[in-house]
Order: sequence, then structure tokens, then C-alpha cells
Amino acid sequence: MKKSLEILMNEHRVIEQVLNCLEKILSRCHEEGRLDGDAARQAIDFFREFADRGHHGKEEIQLFPMLETHGMGTPCGPVAVMCREHELGRMYIQGMESAAEAASQGEPESVQWFIRHGQSYVRLLREHIGKEDHCLFTRAEQSLSAEEDAKLLAEYARFEAAEFSSAVQERLVATANELADRYGVPRAGQ
Ligand SMILES: [Fe+2]
Ligand SMILES: [Fe+2]
Repeated sequence: MKKSLEILMNEHRVIEQVLNCLEKILSRCHEEGRLDGDAARQAIDFFREFADRGHHGKEEIQLFPMLETHGMGTPCGPVAVMCREHELGRMYIQGMESAAEAASQGEPESVQWFIRHGQSYVRLLREHIGKEDHCLFTRAEQSLSAEEDAKLLAEYARFEAAEFSSAVQERLVATANELADRYGVPRAGQ
């Protein structure tokens, strides 16, 4: 597996870890009729920063344009669909965030909205990750040359140095592990 794809696939495992946590947050919210506001804020912060800004950032700014040069950039092609799914994910995150405060006070309508947006987000991201792992990245693995792989790695490093420092990444992975421990979810790679 090309290193530039392997990095993204490893990030998928951490994102799935927090999706598993969000699923537990949602079922507890359903049972208790009240959202755990602190856990919800941590999960939203993780999805917004790690999954969307960091991970989707690397995909949209570096990987996808490279794949478009390999014939995957047609208007309804795989890259276009992946980008639309990232956008939809952003809307669900906003939806969860706008309901979180009232849901944490047990306001019934906001509890319902939070649960519905959260369930949609979990389903969307799991399917999205499955498509990337099993379809898009498989094709990318066959298409990308060793030189393109090296170029992507250099671009990731530049992007992370400018916008997504290792200190920020470590903080977000720590948040992911804190949530996993609190909600009895296995950590990625364990
Ligand atoms: Fe993606
Ligand atoms: Fe991804």
C-alpha cells in the first residue's frame, strides 16, 4: 500500500473509533432523554478538526486533485461523490452542534434532532469510509506512481506544518481515546 494512502486509512480507523463513541452517546441520550453535553462537544470538536479539517483537508486539497489527473474527476465520478459526502457531513455536524446545548438540558425536540443528525452522520461516514477503503483507494493504489506518492507525502507535510500541527493532532487523538475509555469503545488498532 502506498504510504500516502496508508496514512489516510489509519486516520479512518481513529475516525471510526469516535463514530463508535458517538453511537453510544446517542443511545445513552435516547435512554436518558438528555445529552451528555461534554462528550458531545468533544466528539463534535474531533469530527470538525480531525476528520473534516485534517483528514478531509488532505483528501480534498492533495489526494483528490491527483486522482482527477487519473480519470477519476468526471462530474459524477468517485471524487465528486466523495466531496459531496464531505459537505453533507459538515451539515450534520452543524445540525448536531445547533441542537447540543438544549439537548444537554433535556429539551425533547432538541434531543430528537441531535439523535437524528448524529445517526445520519454515523451512517454517512461509515459508508463513506467503506467506499474510500474498498473502492477509491484500491483504484488509487493501482494508479499512483511512486513519484506521485512521494509528492503527496511532501504535500501532506506542508499542509500539516501550516494548518494542522502535530500538537493539535495529538490533542485530538487524546480526545478520541478519552471518549473511547469513557464509553467502553476499543481504541483503534487494539
Ligand atoms: Fe473522504
Ligand atoms: Fe477518508
